[in-house]
Amino acid sequence: MKAFVSRAIPPAGLQVLDTATGLEIDYNSHDAGLSKADLIARTGQSEGLLCLLTDTIDAEVLASCPNLKVISNMAVGYNNIDVAEATRRGILVTNTPGVLTDTTADLTWALLLAVARRIGEGERLVRAGEWHGWGPLQLLGGEVNGKTLGIIGMGRIGQAVARRALGFNMKVIYHNRSGLDPALESELKATRVGLDELIAKSDFVSLHAPYTKETHHLINAEKLARMQPTSYLINTARGPLVDEAALVAALKNNRIAGAALDVYEEEPVLYPGLRELDNAVLAPHLGSATHQTRGEMSRLAATNLVMALSGKRPLHPVNPDVLEKK
Ligand code: GLV
Repeated sequence: MKAFVSRAIPPAGLQVLDTATGLEIDYNSHDAGLSKADLIARTGQSEGLLCLLTDTIDAEVLASCPNLKVISNMAVGYNNIDVAEATRRGILVTNTPGVLTDTTADLTWALLLAVARRIGEGERLVRAGEWHGWGPLQLLGGEVNGKTLGIIGMGRIGQAVARRALGFNMKVIYHNRSGLDPALESELKATRVGLDELIAKSDFVSLHAPYTKETHHLINAEKLARMQPTSYLINTARGPLVDEAALVAALKNNRIAGAALDVYEEEPVLYPGLRELDNAVLAPHLGSATHQTRGEMSRLAATNLVMALSGKRPLHPVNPDVLEKK
């Protein structure tokens, strides 16, 4: 069997692949994504593909790689893959949930605190040599402790974000298709509310929902208009959950107090005007970016690939229907 690894990944995953029996690996060891044509050419006749969220695996790629049996995405999100088309073709898709939950929740809090306490602006001031000493009116931000945190998408990462809010004595409200188990809800001191109520009542709105057709532009001009002018938006999930044009307008007009983003609609391109806004904290998609977590993601993605190619049920199938049909 052959498998292609589309981009440089941490060594832990490569070790798993190297020790798998009967597997021939082609590895793009460069830390840069491939063009679609190169991705297709390199995947070629392989049965397996280990890819990254920077690879778009659409119907054309799937049609051009006829032997593919397994696509292992080294990410928890898999909106970069046309899963419906993969399922139709009997191709199993896997992802890497669990290992990045706490790391992504930590980054969410780093951004929440940074935007509320104006860390980016302060750092720019200091680095520019323009800080002339402490001032009673200098860079006053929003209070975090005791405020209301609204979490949209209460899966693993949303719950880990809520758990951290306990330490800040915050009130947590959440919006999710299904409610949490009552014991967990009371442990997290979280209350489920409708989306409109969450938007209106939260001092911080944090997004943790997957990106699908249904969640496209979940936060649009209308939602931004209903947020409090003193509130903040944090997005560490996927860029297109937010209408970036509407967000830039809201930030320009101070319709909301600020936004902290780790993800963007057209990464790495930013919507015009976003970069110039002082009330935006902008991180370059760092949610899972720690040595430990990226190593675990790499190992898990490789393990999923090897298990699936050797006919075993992988640890994290995204479309298990494909297995059931076999
Ligand atoms: C990162 O964005 C991931 O989905 O793992």
